[in-house]
Amino acid sequence: MVIKLDSKLNIMHAVTLLRAGKLVAFPTETVYGLGADANNEMAVRQIFRAKERPFDHPLIVHIAKKEQLPEWARDISSSAMRLAETFWPGPLTMVLKKQPHVLKVVTAGQETIALRVPNHPIALALLQVFGGGIAAPYANIFTHISPTSAEAVMEALAEKVDLILDGGLCEVGLESTIVDMTGHTPVILRKGMVTADEISAVLEMPIAVSPQETVRVPGMHHVHYAPSTRTLLMNTSEIINFLKTLKDDELPIILLIHTELSLPAVNKTFCVNMPNQAKAYAHELYRVLRSLDQERPKYIIIEDVPNTIEWQAIRDRLQKASGRTNDSH
Ligand code: TXA
Ligand code: MG
Repeated sequence: MVIKLDSKLNIMHAVTLLRAGKLVAFPTETVYGLGADANNEMAVRQIFRAKERPFDHPLIVHIAKKEQLPEWARDISSSAMRLAETFWPGPLTMVLKKQPHVLKVVTAGQETIALRVPNHPIALALLQVFGGGIAAPYANIFTHISPTSAEAVMEALAEKVDLILDGGLCEVGLESTIVDMTGHTPVILRKGMVTADEISAVLEMPIAVSPQETVRVPGMHHVHYAPSTRTLLMNTSEIINFLKTLKDDELPIILLIHTELSLPAVNKTFCVNMPNQAKAYAHELYRVLRSLDQERPKYIIIEDVPNTIEWQAIRDRLQKASGRTNDSH
């Protein structure tokens, strides 16, 4: 059964469900998560089934506060503590060596675990009252766009989730930055709105960025966060050329533009204006892609965004959405 709730007063009900091994979708500042008790193997398996997610794709465990880190991770370096103190609660996930009790199904059999304290009042209230860790991937079918509203979760997983906590639109709108803290040099495994530069500044040391999201287990999955409409990422001159050579059976198309680009008027070509600031763009992106996808155009054409640090996580997701996984920069 799905009950849509919108009040912190309903946290107790959500906790009762989690303790009974049920699935609860909840808002975080990044995207909505599909949560289960991280210590309940059957419940965690249910997440993979609901999402049609391969078991080689490990989950992030969410905790209420950094003081709970040692319950899940060991050999926590002073650098890792520094990042927790600086960025938690917030959109940063750390990969650390796991405690022996952590379930294999959570870590895909690896010796490491991904942990995060989300910055959302409902997520934090849920985690505090629950007391344990909540394993939660984004609350949609595997490779589909991450949901940034309760409605999006409802549409994707209505029959498969026991409860959806409604916290409105997610503030950040993109999944957390993932940084691997198990080695000598920290490595960014997934870009997010906490940038490599910010992490490097806090740690006062250089950090590495993995060329693309790494699962570090057999079975890499290249297309992520993809709309079902054919989506192309183009610079402005490519867009203009594309419009010139369009054939009738390639229409309608939707253009996602964030600059003052002036385009030739073409029949059945619709322009959607995006914010030209990275934070605001990230906040809107998945919500807009989801609604454009529902219009069923032939193409979604996205104007490429600047190759600067504050746009990096957005570029990464746009490249994934358009099936271009190799960043040439
Ligand atoms: O913002 C977020 O991180 C959202 C919200 C719900 O917290 N969650 C999220 O989960 O994006 P998901 O499942 O879509 O992404 C989890 C990522 C995967 O790319 C997975 O490979 C990585 O975390 N991951 C999990 N455990 C790992 C580990 N031990 N080592 C390396 N990567 C790991
Ligand atoms: Mg994923």
